Amino acid sequence: MQIIKDIDEMTACGETARAKGETVVLVPTMGFLHAGHVKLIETGKRQGSLLVLSIFVNPAQFGPKEDFNAYPRDIERDLKTAKEAGVDVVFIPDAAGMYRQGSRTFVTVEGLSERLCGRARPGHFKGVATVVLKLFNIVRPHKAVFGKKDFQQFVIIKRLAEDLNAGVEIVGVDTVREEDGLALSSRNTYLSPEERRAACAIPRALQAARQAAECGQRQSLAIIEKVREIIAKERVIAIEYVEICDPMTLEDVRRVEKEALLAVAARVGRTRLIDNTLIA
Ligand code: PAF
Repeated sequence: MQIIKDIDEMTACGETARAKGETVVLVPTMGFLHAGHVKLIETGKRQGSLLVLSIFVNPAQFGPKEDFNAYPRDIERDLKTAKEAGVDVVFIPDAAGMYRQGSRTFVTVEGLSERLCGRARPGHFKGVATVVLKLFNIVRPHKAVFGKKDFQQFVIIKRLAEDLNAGVEIVGVDTVREEDGLALSSRNTYLSPEERRAACAIPRALQAARQAAECGQRQSLAIIEKVREIIAKERVIAIEYVEICDPMTLEDVRRVEKEALLAVAARVGRTRLIDNTLIA
């Protein structure tokens, strides 16, 4: 497994691989790898012949009061996980290289970035879209793999790739869950045992919503109310939003007539968790 820290070296590696006829697949991450990332890597390996994993905790996507400094990091463990998962190249740029002094260009995916998580995290998706486009330009992948736990991010990146002719196929991977249903996230490590137990109310509520829709409930408000009721039973959880929207445009859906996205964000203690499911 090759480890590259230098941006120009990464570009040369991606270009050489392309010239040799390899299919380059990028899995962008912020590290602290878990089974969800391993699934992204496994999916990526099936999609091409050179798997590049990037590890970069992107300062541009954290707000001033968010957890950039506290965000969990363990590069040695990540390298071991990456090697075992069959990663070919790990790209670990540093912030000074990624955001050179004087850098002024950012990418905003309008209309999608302000919805759902964008309301409580202004600027977050601008930071995500910018770093992802930079990674595309540096690594030159044919395909890139993203988890659907961050569904809004997935939709935004798909839109960006299409709108800006990035020439990168965006591949989505279903959320990986713990046995009790909790969606895997690097931020789960922040949870106390009590919070960890309470957090399961979120996937439980999503499951109840799916059932309600399957049983014929079409009114978004009624489904949202059910989800809120289940989560609100846990006093350590504060709901940020529960919304039902179109999975492509993220616009509100009042009646569930076709597949819709039910998305939840909540604070469990001080930890912000998100989850979602498709309902129909
Ligand atoms: O999903 C993440 O880990 C990050 O938002 C990403 C896509 C690596 C961009 O920093």
